[in-house]
Amino acid sequence: KQGREGTRVLPDYAKLHLPRRPVDGHKGDFGKLFILAGSEGYTGAPNLAARAALRTGAGLVFLGVPREIYPILAVKCDEAMPFPLPEKYEEILEKAKGCDVALIGPGLGRHPKTEKLVRALLEDLDIPVVLDADGINALCGHIDILDKRSAPTVLTPHAGEFARLTGCPLPVKDRLSAARAFAKEHHCTLVLKGHGTVTAAPSGNCWICGTGNPGMAKGGSGDVLSGMIAALWGQKHLKGPYTDLSELAAWAVWYHGKAGDKCARKLGEYAMLPSDLLDAIPEVLLENT
Ligand code: APR
Ligand code: MG
Repeated sequence: KQGREGTRVLPDYAKLHLPRRPVDGHKGDFGKLFILAGSEGYTGAPNLAARAALRTGAGLVFLGVPREIYPILAVKCDEAMPFPLPEKYEEILEKAKGCDVALIGPGLGRHPKTEKLVRALLEDLDIPVVLDADGINALCGHIDILDKRSAPTVLTPHAGEFARLTGCPLPVKDRLSAARAFAKEHHCTLVLKGHGTVTAAPSGNCWICGTGNPGMAKGGSGDVLSGMIAALWGQKHLKGPYTDLSELAAWAVWYHGKAGDKCARKLGEYAMLPSDLLDAIPEVLLENT
């Protein structure tokens, strides 16, 4: 279904068929993820993002969290590998550089020291970065950092974060044009979330998502999405058939919404939780492999 020129509406019957994982694949082939997330009061976001990434096929997930909350994540995580963030910036950078993709932001908080760390990583990392939540907030007044990046970046703001970043008034008028203009200008992928999430590519291509429902309007749903995008971006065998990382991000959005729709049917929009989205991911991916 074609919408405006260069825009695809991703309807319910559309499918991105994920290729089978290569039989001789090992965990290194399916993406090493570096996640920087969490702060005091936000111990759920890092876990949701990490679990979403693993549920979506990531090979290895290193989860860097502030030292104060590390013991909590150490108990929560079985498959992801949490570690307390080192004091020295060089050590954090080195750890991130050894990975295929970085996800920065879920529940990170807005301490000036943290925001400085986010900006430094964006400047120094030449791997793809998924920037969410407070990772996006750290760019307020520093958007030029995006323009200077050599590797792909995807930003996943909700309308409030987008307005804060760009200075545009709320509600965002003409979300499609706003997302497209931002992605083109800053040469990044922009996922403007909400009902009918718009994914815009630096090329000008856009995708409007037809899945998802207001049962997902609960703190934590966004953290799940950012982990799913990072996981698809990290898997080497997906890069053959799907060279366009923006399109992969759009499909992550679609899968995420589809998982939400399954939860709504089983549990109802009132009761479903972001952690239920994690449990619905397997069924969605099975239907699309
Ligand atoms: N229809 C379809 N999808 C919806 C709807 C709706 N009516 N409402 C919400 N969603 C989807 C959005 O498209 C998005 O993918 O749910 C997700 C919500 O994401 P966010 O708005 O980012 O919310 P979330 O991140 O879960 O909120 C908790 O607060 O302080 C931060 O860092 C913390 O990231 C954490 C966040
Ligand atoms: Mg969010």
